[in-house]
Amino acid sequence: MLPCQKHLFSIPDEVSYLNCSYMSPTAEPVELAGYQAIARKTMPYEILPADFFGPVANLKQLFAQLVNVADPERIAVVPSVSYGIASAVKNVKIRPGQNIVTVDEIFPSNYYAWQRLAAENVAHLHIVKRPETTVNRGKTWNEKLLESIDSQTVAVALPHVHWADGTRFDLVAVRQRTREVGALLVVDGTQSVGALPFDVREIQPDALICAAYKWLLGPYGMGMAYFGERFDGGTPIEENWINRLNSENFEGLVRYQDAYKPAANRYCMGENSQFIGVPMLTAALEMILGWGVENIQGYCHQLTQPYLARLSALGCEVEDAGYRGSHLVGVRLPKGINMALLKKETLARQVFVSYRGGAMRISPHLYNDSTDFERLLGVFESVIK
Ligand SMILES: Cc1ncc(COP(=O)(O)O)c(C=O)c1O
Repeated sequence: MLPCQKHLFSIPDEVSYLNCSYMSPTAEPVELAGYQAIARKTMPYEILPADFFGPVANLKQLFAQLVNVADPERIAVVPSVSYGIASAVKNVKIRPGQNIVTVDEIFPSNYYAWQRLAAENVAHLHIVKRPETTVNRGKTWNEKLLESIDSQTVAVALPHVHWADGTRFDLVAVRQRTREVGALLVVDGTQSVGALPFDVREIQPDALICAAYKWLLGPYGMGMAYFGERFDGGTPIEENWINRLNSENFEGLVRYQDAYKPAANRYCMGENSQFIGVPMLTAALEMILGWGVENIQGYCHQLTQPYLARLSALGCEVEDAGYRGSHLVGVRLPKGINMALLKKETLARQVFVSYRGGAMRISPHLYNDSTDFERLLGVFESVIK
C-alpha cells in the first residue's frame, strides 16, 4: 500500500481535511508549478507561439493516459463541467416524446442543460428516484436506472459516483443498455476520476467530463473532457481561433479556416493554453499517475474500512461496498442525532467534511491518515453518547 503523502501538502497537523469532494488541497509540486507559471508572464517575450500548443498537448496526453484513451486528440480542455455538458447537449437531437434519463439530485451542472433541452423539445427528463429503502439501496437504484432506459431514450446523463452520497453507478451495464436502444451516455466524472479507476475503453462513454479542482488535484476554473466518435463533426458552443486547423501559424490567422483540428479539439475552450492552469494540472496529473489511481483507491479503502465499521456500530448507515467507492462515502446519520451539535463539534475539532441532506460526506485522500479518522470518530462519540 502507498504510504501517506501528507508531506506533499501543507495541511497543518491539527486539521483533519476529509473533504476532497468539496475541493482538493493544492499539493506542493502543483503550487510551485503555479508560482513559476505566474512569474513567466513577467517576461512575455519568452512565451513563444509553440507554448500555446505544446504544454496543453502534453496535458491531454496525461489525461488520456489516466482514463485509458489511446488518442489524446479525443481530449478537450474545458473551463467547467457545465461547459463540457453544454457542448454535448448542443449536439443532441431529440424529438417530442423522447426522453433523457438521469438520477435523483444529480449535480446541477449536469442537469440544467438537459432540462432545457427536454423542455424546448417537448421531451421528457426522466429522473430515476433514489429508493427509500436502506437495504440494497445502491443495487435497487442501479436496477431502476436500467429499467428506465427505453426505446425513446436519446441520452443518459450520469455521474460515476453520486456527488452527494457516493452511490456508484454501474456504467458498464448502463452502456450496454444504452447501446441496445442507441442512446448516448454522458458521464460527469468529477467525483471519481483521479481517485477511482475509470477506463474509457471498458466503459465506452460518449463523453466524460471532469472538473480539475477535486480529484484531479488541479486548479479551479479548468476541467478535462473526453468526446467519443458520436460527437465528431459536431458544433462547439463557441468559435475560437485556436481550435481551427493550422492555428499554430499566427501570421495566417485571418486567412479564416473552415476546418477544425481533429476529433474533440473543437470542444476545447477559448484560451485553452491556460498558461497558469495547464502547468498546475500537468503537475497534478503527473503525481496521480505516479501514485496510480488504483493505489489511491486502495489507500482510501484500507484507511476508511475500520472506521466505517465503527460508524455503523454507532448507528450510522453506509452504502454497500459494491455500490460505492472508498474515497467519497455518504454516511447517513442515526435518526434523532443532534445535527447542530455534530456540525459544531466537527468545526471545533477542525474536522472538515460536507453535509448533504441527512448525510455526512466523508472524502479522504492520500494526505489523510488514521489520526483524522480518530478525530472524526471522537466527534461522533461525543455527540451520540
Ligand atoms: C459531480 C460534480 N460535477 C461538477 C461539479 C462542478 O461543476 P462546474 O465545473 O460546472 O462548476 C461539482 C462540484 O461540486 C460536482 O460535484
